[in-house]
Amino acid sequence: MTLEAIRYSPGSLQILDQLQLPHVCHYEDLQSVSQAWAAIRDMKVRGAPAIALVGALSLAVELRAGAGGPGAAVLRSFVRAKLDLLLSARPTASNLGRAARTLLAAAGAGDPDLHQDDDDEDEGALRHRVIRCAEDMMEKDLRDNRTIGDLGARHILERVAPSGGQVTVLTHCNTGALATAGYGTALGVVRSLHAQGRLERVYCTETRPYNQGSRLTAFELVYEAIPATLIADSAAAAALAQRGVTAVIVGADRIVANGDTANKVGTYQLAVVAKHLGVPFYVAAPSSSCDLGLASGRDIPIEERPPQELTDLQGIRIAAPGIEVWNPAFDVTPHELITGGIITELGVFAPHELQAALSTTTSS
Ligand code: MRU
Repeated sequence: MTLEAIRYSPGSLQILDQLQLPHVCHYEDLQSVSQAWAAIRDMKVRGAPAIALVGALSLAVELRAGAGGPGAAVLRSFVRAKLDLLLSARPTASNLGRAARTLLAAAGAGDPDLHQDDDDEDEGALRHRVIRCAEDMMEKDLRDNRTIGDLGARHILERVAPSGGQVTVLTHCNTGALATAGYGTALGVVRSLHAQGRLERVYCTETRPYNQGSRLTAFELVYEAIPATLIADSAAAAALAQRGVTAVIVGADRIVANGDTANKVGTYQLAVVAKHLGVPFYVAAPSSSCDLGLASGRDIPIEERPPQELTDLQGIRIAAPGIEVWNPAFDVTPHELITGGIITELGVFAPHELQAALSTTTSS
């Protein structure tokens, strides 16, 4: 059975509660945008693509149940208000913002300067258009991830193993089926390498403080029987130096115009070490993670999470009482450290090529 973070059929949305993994596989029903907002904020569902999909599909569920209206103008304001709420859940990933813009455009509410509040459009047609737009996102994400996996694997093999043989890679956080519609981004590349018989081993970091690596990535890798080894975050430099790692592959929450990339905290230090040791460093993400509207990583809003994620483990306090905590969920890797490339469904680009490559193929 395939591992699914999101189960959707028209009118029904369920998420795998990732707070209970790896011990319990429990699917929770989401019937409204506000329930989706809470699930995203509490990290029952997480990972940039999955956050966007759950947000969009929760809106589809409400619209199918008849919420919003009567009339096209009221329905449009309803969609706008629900998307505004969703966007407040977690600030760093760009995918939900991109999905919101696409849904607003489908609702005919994309351009705030135009007067779109006239009620002349058929409410049913508008409702149907927004629902279809949300539902199509699931399929597209899965398709894009498979392409990312194949393009990334091909590129890495050509670069680090041109005369054949297997590669050893290191990844951070969770970028697999649990973070997407399925297959995954950086972990999708790992899957593709494995499927081709070219993966010797993947090292996955524990990813403190929330442990996406040890709880989620390790779970996926064991589930898929991919040869994998878990390491503490603090063992990453040693692993790169001593364990024959040929490439580092991570995901992204937001990639901006100059190629600077926000991803799970700890990514930056991995990139510094990789550069020091001459190990190619790759970012794998769909183009929906790219935000060409921001010039550099300095402009990316970085989410700070509650101190308890750092001071406590499964409800048990492990840090000295009274200590102050800084708990950023993400950090920004400067583009010059992304030495392998940025793997998207549209191709593999050097950071400085991204803006030109994407602006000819997508609207960002
Ligand atoms: O805080 P999280 O678990 O949502 O952070 C997830 C990451 O940083 C992932 O690397 C990123 O969202 C890409 S997931 C395909």
